[in-house]
Amino acid sequence: MSYDELERRAELAMPSGTWSYVAGGAGDERTQRANREAFDHWGLVPRMLRATTERDQSVELFGHRLPTPLLMSPIGVIGICTQDGHGDLATARAAATTGVPMIASTLTEDPMEVVAAEQGETPGFFQLYCPTDPEVAQSLVGRAEAAGYRAIVVTLDTWVTGWRPRDLSTANFPQLRGRCLANYFSDPVFRSRLAAPPEEDPGSAILAWAQMFGRPLGWDDLAWLRSLTDLPVVLKGICHPDDARRAVDEGVDGIYVSTHGGRQANGGIAAIDCLPAVREAVSDTTVLLDSGVRSGSDVVKALALGADAVGVGRPYAFGAALGGTDGIVHVLRNILAEADLLMAVDGYPTVADLGPEAMRRL
Ligand SMILES: Cc1cc2nc3c(=O)[nH]c(=O)nc-3n(C[C@H](O)[C@H](O)[C@H](O)COP(=O)(O)O)c2cc1C
Repeated sequence: MSYDELERRAELAMPSGTWSYVAGGAGDERTQRANREAFDHWGLVPRMLRATTERDQSVELFGHRLPTPLLMSPIGVIGICTQDGHGDLATARAAATTGVPMIASTLTEDPMEVVAAEQGETPGFFQLYCPTDPEVAQSLVGRAEAAGYRAIVVTLDTWVTGWRPRDLSTANFPQLRGRCLANYFSDPVFRSRLAAPPEEDPGSAILAWAQMFGRPLGWDDLAWLRSLTDLPVVLKGICHPDDARRAVDEGVDGIYVSTHGGRQANGGIAAIDCLPAVREAVSDTTVLLDSGVRSGSDVVKALALGADAVGVGRPYAFGAALGGTDGIVHVLRNILAEADLLMAVDGYPTVADLGPEAMRRL
């Protein structure tokens, strides 16, 4: 029931390399801790005599009515977090069961089409790590659109991997061992760049992947990115209101405030503290938030501070490690149940009732 217990049990259940990859972050993990601790300096103001048994957590996102405001953030190694090595499918099935959308990473153990097929009626979103080869990028986005994903989430903060001491000290990087590269190895354009197919020469295929993994994106690339798809395009990793405003001016459909869970850059500020200014800067645009969300009360605070939907990362990876699909469903339901009871007790029966006036900075 508690996040700390979930984390403790997951550590015991996971192979040490997977555990440190998932649990770790950049530098001495100060930003990672700040993401969590910052929720403590926001508080929800109780309102009485508004009690009702009619409560509604549903939200509208990119034209889809979702039963809850929760999202599963993209986790590139979720594929290897379950004991059967098909964590992407477990996540997709949890999305189908709960109605909580999965944002499928570019880095999956099973190809995106197979993952999409397990999501049932729940809309799924595809997260793009933009490769340096524009035709591979175009192919990945085209496949996502054809597979039925409903938005493209472009991650901006990971064109190069951050300084992660836990992984560096153990030379631990699953992708360099060929893990979670299914979307590339199954991609016709990526394959056309190789002298031999990945099945015959995995070493060279991994090297080709490493060389084309991350394109350093600039403002000049936005029009091109936009031109790749008719789906809504969301930018993940935006924390400054000026960046948010400019992105929206240039045609982006959603802003995803995130510090990548403190994995990419240390010495920064908590994502939740960036949210109010971004919300104010782009008042009519869809805004998402993740980084540090561990409980129902965190979700409620993020909604009140301006998020339209809220992502969780590590908690569902720990659920996956402990119980596959059922473990993920359990984690999501815990968070949602706490949020529901908090909204009930404090007199905010629907998501629309939660606004900045419900919050106090402590
Ligand atoms: C192990 C791991 C792998 C991740 N892989 C990706 C990824 O492939 N793409 C991406 O955009 N974000 C990735 N993230 C970042 C998450 O989407 C999200 O921003 C972060 O986990 C939220 O913080 P939290 O873990 O504190 O909830 C990853 C996070 C973790 C923990």
